Amino acid sequence: MKLRSRLSGVLSLLAWGLLPTASVSQLPDGDMRAHGGPVRALAVVSEELLASASFDSTVIAWNLKNGRAQRIGRHHGTAVNALVARPDGCLVSGGEDGRIVTWCTATAAEPTVVAGHTEAVSSLAVAPDGVTVASGGWDRTVRLWPAQGPSRILAEHAAPITSVLFSSDGATVISASHDGTLRLTPIGSSGAARIVKLEQPANAMVRGSTGTVLLAAADGGVRALDETLLAVSDIANLDGPLTAIALSPDGTTAAVGGLRTPLTLIDLATRQVKQTPPSPGLPVWAIAFSKDGRDVFTGSGDRAVRRFDARTGAASSPSIATVPPPDMADRRERGAIVFRACAACHGVTAQDTNLAGPTLYRIMGRHIAARSDYTYSAALVGMNIVWSPATIAELFEQGPTKYTPGTKMPEQRITDPEDRKALVDWLTRVTVP
Ligand code: HEC
Repeated sequence: MKLRSRLSGVLSLLAWGLLPTASVSQLPDGDMRAHGGPVRALAVVSEELLASASFDSTVIAWNLKNGRAQRIGRHHGTAVNALVARPDGCLVSGGEDGRIVTWCTATAAEPTVVAGHTEAVSSLAVAPDGVTVASGGWDRTVRLWPAQGPSRILAEHAAPITSVLFSSDGATVISASHDGTLRLTPIGSSGAARIVKLEQPANAMVRGSTGTVLLAAADGGVRALDETLLAVSDIANLDGPLTAIALSPDGTTAAVGGLRTPLTLIDLATRQVKQTPPSPGLPVWAIAFSKDGRDVFTGSGDRAVRRFDARTGAASSPSIATVPPPDMADRRERGAIVFRACAACHGVTAQDTNLAGPTLYRIMGRHIAARSDYTYSAALVGMNIVWSPATIAELFEQGPTKYTPGTKMPEQRITDPEDRKALVDWLTRVTVP
């Protein structure tokens, strides 16, 4: 049993950890993305804010109105696998470091960190009370984190946990595992846990609006169970393994995706399946609907967050971090194209303001961390770097993490020397009055 769970954990690591991360220079023309690694989890915070968590160890809060990164949280030292939004807008993220971080982007409060899992946190859920959190880990445990009082191990599986959910009354936690079981564990002292053996392990689960549980399975099956987990029915059979599932706010449409399956919309009444065109965005790791149900977002292996029309499945705009700001649109030269990977977070002209990152207007000759209207990370303030074409090229040859350790700028490298040169030449020209 022990060996099997180890093996399964290693398999998860292989599947999740060894995906190639494209360098900025390899991105296709017109695509821009801010994450330095695959996007593993998404959480809709409000009508205006979507958060994404990535292997680059950051959580980015995106402004849905303009598709730009608004805040970057770097509260995990490792990949971030799991993310949920509480009703009060605070984000709860789980990392490969086993830590769970609660980050309230709307306030200046420091994030709170709790630890307990001895391996990666793979899944999180918030209880109907809005604050109690359940977590599942590669250490095979399901843990409960009440707002007050100590955390505890609620359940143990024979293999890593893939997904956790609260029942609609908040009295039970449902957990799925690579061991192929679902487990219903009552939170109170009364009642025994119930275990259901599935034909295929569920990789992702979502609660249906009528008390059902929908699951996306390793074999490509999309299935529905009633909340007692007694009756199972097949909804669709797609190319497996599936990795993500979400439900529209009105409960009529399920959205699924996987390693080989692009975003697929399923009408739950008619079981009609609508698949988006096979995009470069495979694997799909995460799916979320907007609050009004009109948009559906995907997070994928190519580091991008995409927006689709939830009715038609068509790509829609403004896409998240895939559209250059208006003043960049007509700039066709190589340096401008390379800069698209930066534009979600940096302005360059006198009219631009600070975004998630400081504006790069008049960057050449400027000392690092010198803008008084921007809050830099503490690590940068003491550094002795003056920005020039040479130092900016070096920043992206080595990557921000190595060149400026402790920075909150997401890790990304520009591996092609010609791209680095084009970028710094272009920056030198456009960042002056
Ligand atoms: C997802 C957001 C994001 C992206 C994408 C991004 N940056 Fe940054 N950048 C930041 C943040 C945040 C900081 C501030 C770092 C800190 O305080 O630790 C920063 C800092 C910098 C600085 C130092 C500025 C100063 O005043 O000292 C430079 C130069 C820079 N970035 C250039 C770039 C370039 C060029 C690209 C594209 C190749 C890029 N960045 C992509 C977020 C980003």
